[in-house]
Amino acid sequence: MSKVTFTQFFSAQHLSGTEANSSLASDISLMLGDIARACIRISKEVNKGALVGTMGSLESENVQGEVQKALDVITNDIFIECNQQSGLIAGMASEELDDPYVVPEQNRKQAKYLLSFDPLDGSSNVNVNISVGTIFSILPCPEGVIAPHLEDFFQAGTAQICAGYALYGTSTMLVITTGSGVNGFTLDNESNEFILTHPNLQIPIETKEFAINMSNYRFWEAPIQNYIDECLQGVEGRRDKDFNMRWVASMVAEVHRILIRGGIFMYPMDSKIKAKGGKLRLLYEANPMSFIVEQAGGGASTGRVRILDIKPKALHQRVPVILGSKSEVDLAEAYHKRK
Ligand code: AHG
Ligand code: MN
Ligand code: MN
Repeated sequence: MSKVTFTQFFSAQHLSGTEANSSLASDISLMLGDIARACIRISKEVNKGALVGTMGSLESENVQGEVQKALDVITNDIFIECNQQSGLIAGMASEELDDPYVVPEQNRKQAKYLLSFDPLDGSSNVNVNISVGTIFSILPCPEGVIAPHLEDFFQAGTAQICAGYALYGTSTMLVITTGSGVNGFTLDNESNEFILTHPNLQIPIETKEFAINMSNYRFWEAPIQNYIDECLQGVEGRRDKDFNMRWVASMVAEVHRILIRGGIFMYPMDSKIKAKGGKLRLLYEANPMSFIVEQAGGGASTGRVRILDIKPKALHQRVPVILGSKSEVDLAEAYHKRK
């Protein structure tokens, strides 16, 4: 069987079979080419590990008060540099930037899109050599906007044109949706090309695996405590099956595991983070991951509403996240609605 490369799969020609609009198909093709190049560069940086001095923390904090790692900043710069060249992207929002980055004028004359990203997800895992990732989301730039402002990014997740993540794990993978299913590609380090290895990913409907940071148990709301209590009771409880637990602390790795073998991932509201609205960020973590999970047949909710329906009010807005196998997400939602 011949190999399908990322470039072939996302060629305008191939995409025009799935995208109704051919200019959209060629735009997606160009933008994804730049994203793939950025992720290959990030993969190489991450792989250098302790051989270079980039694993430590900097003096600086990002706008969310988190200490930045050198690699947070390096990967952010790579993502901006690679993605401002196509001329298609007007502005970018990043976890590592307080405000939107407006692409230099000469590069955004024809720009029709906005890019949001988390350049290095799970960065607390970098110096312990555990998987990290990059998450991105592409939105349309509102009609007539040439130099995008903050409010132009405030679009519900349903408006996303394309979303994906790169996982820098035992192999480097790119997992992408353009709204017609989810496909996974593995980096061939010899040819420096991504190859289609996981066509049409579908999340198994039923699961016995959950992912949550259990140390927050006492801070959770009752519906999440109840849901997890019942998982822990296993065959002796009303769920009538034993569950397994995983927590990588890199959302990209958790979502990838769920795409491959099912499960549920939760970073729910808890009393410690209530003032912030949650832990994970809507624009560049929750929305792209929810788009992928829904496109793979799963569900994504805050417990009370579908994540993709939320209209953002701030660039770094946080939301509770419950996503994965549809039947489990539905059950967790039902617990929130139960009086
Ligand atoms: P980031 O490194 O981009 O700030 O994101 C880390 C996120 C997410 O990837 C992960 O699920 C969660 O934070 C881990 O949180 P805990 O440290 O509470 O486990
Ligand atoms: Mn993150
Ligand atoms: Mn990050």
